[in-house]
Amino acid sequence: MKHTDLKEIFAKPAFGEDVTVCGWVRTSRDSKNVAFLELNDGTSLKHMQIVLDKAEGKEFPAEALKLGTSLKVSGQLVEGRNGVPEINAKEITVLGNCPAEYPLQKKRHTLEFLRTMPHLRGRTNTFNAVLRVRSVLAEAIHQYFQDRNYVYVNTPLITGSDCEGAGEMFQVTTIGYSDQYKNAEEYYADDFFGQRAGLSVSGQLEGEMAAMAMGKIYTFGPSFRAENSNTPKHLAEFWHMEPEIAFAELPDIIEIAEDMLKHVIGTVLEKCPQEMAFFDQHFENGLIDRLKELISHEFGTVTYTEAIRLLKESGEEFVYPVEWGVDLQTEHERYISEKVFKKAVFVTDYPKEIKSFYMKQNADGKTVAAVDLLVPGVGEIIGGSEREADYDKLVAAMKERGMNLDQYSDYLDLRRFGSVPHGGFGLGFERLVMYVTGVSNIRDVILFPRTVGNIR
Ligand code: 4AD
Repeated sequence: MKHTDLKEIFAKPAFGEDVTVCGWVRTSRDSKNVAFLELNDGTSLKHMQIVLDKAEGKEFPAEALKLGTSLKVSGQLVEGRNGVPEINAKEITVLGNCPAEYPLQKKRHTLEFLRTMPHLRGRTNTFNAVLRVRSVLAEAIHQYFQDRNYVYVNTPLITGSDCEGAGEMFQVTTIGYSDQYKNAEEYYADDFFGQRAGLSVSGQLEGEMAAMAMGKIYTFGPSFRAENSNTPKHLAEFWHMEPEIAFAELPDIIEIAEDMLKHVIGTVLEKCPQEMAFFDQHFENGLIDRLKELISHEFGTVTYTEAIRLLKESGEEFVYPVEWGVDLQTEHERYISEKVFKKAVFVTDYPKEIKSFYMKQNADGKTVAAVDLLVPGVGEIIGGSEREADYDKLVAAMKERGMNLDQYSDYLDLRRFGSVPHGGFGLGFERLVMYVTGVSNIRDVILFPRTVGNIR
């Protein structure tokens, strides 16, 4: 269907020329001699005003004024008030009628209400802006790594190993309810893969294998977590970007994470000015200034041990008490980034007991070379580490955790055949989108959120 994207018309309006546009009716106003409607085709946050001049006896289809109706409109592009382009309609074709029960009416709907209709909420201004920012952020991530000699690697979503430890993995099975097996072993042997399989919580282990060949890689795909966390920042299916870098130690990993974030946020500010102004106005006043501030200053860095001291001396009453050895909760993370540093901050060198088996063991025997990036408003958006590259130390850490070494023989081979210092991190893509847009619930930055008890 030949037509021009609204985005193209707004970018370079050829006043006086005839154009054809398509879209859905967002608002309409009718009077005796003239009617106005606003059309949106999704390519732009701005709507195109269509003027239907009825004075010359011209007839337009009555359905064209109904909200949600889809139209093809041809007419002359003219300069409206304040130089804004609008179209004087000559011909209107109704592509699809929309009855009055269309749930997206003119008023501003709550995000909670919109969550009940994921199939339609893409047609609101909020999701128009969220989806475009997501798209531009994703492109900026690819561009950042591609420009720096990283190879984009696709790691498996179905896995036989449980990368991060017990409990969080969705099981993949083709066997429905059955009571014909004597035990779990028999059951799994009969299943599709002949062994227990699940959806991957992270592409890291396979990413490490690729990095041990290609040097610098990144993955960008869905990860799945079956944690029962019904919070504004947890999804059961989230998009995960994980670079893995050979010949790199913890300070290198931190440097790359900061540089990459600054690049992608700078790109969104540059490429999505309308969307960012929308979020600044409707979601977080001062958002654009906050992001500009972020990309023009160095992020903070603090060790876990020092962070615990700051929290204990804060005089704050936390719901979860603070002691060296505890995992940092969102309230602690936010206190550190919002009250102490007032900016993004890397927390490093966590106790080994609360982190994964693969992290490089520090000389103190108590901590590992882990890093989390905490940002104001959201908390943790990045988790990473230098990896343990020493075969014996890695085996010892796995044994301490009672892990089955046979399942990880491929992973251990990396430490036998030309092991090198290496590391990487995982960025939760939706958490980044939350941070960049000021949208405070993760369910509102992905079109079809999957959370505990919700898979619509
Ligand atoms: O800290 P995590 O669990 O680290 C890993 O998975 C490592 N394998 C990463 C690596 O070193 N390659 O997860 C990384 C990030 C978190 O910081 C968070 O932003 C996001 O993934 N994340 C989630 N996002 C939404 N919903 C969830 N349930 C998430 N769990 C983690």
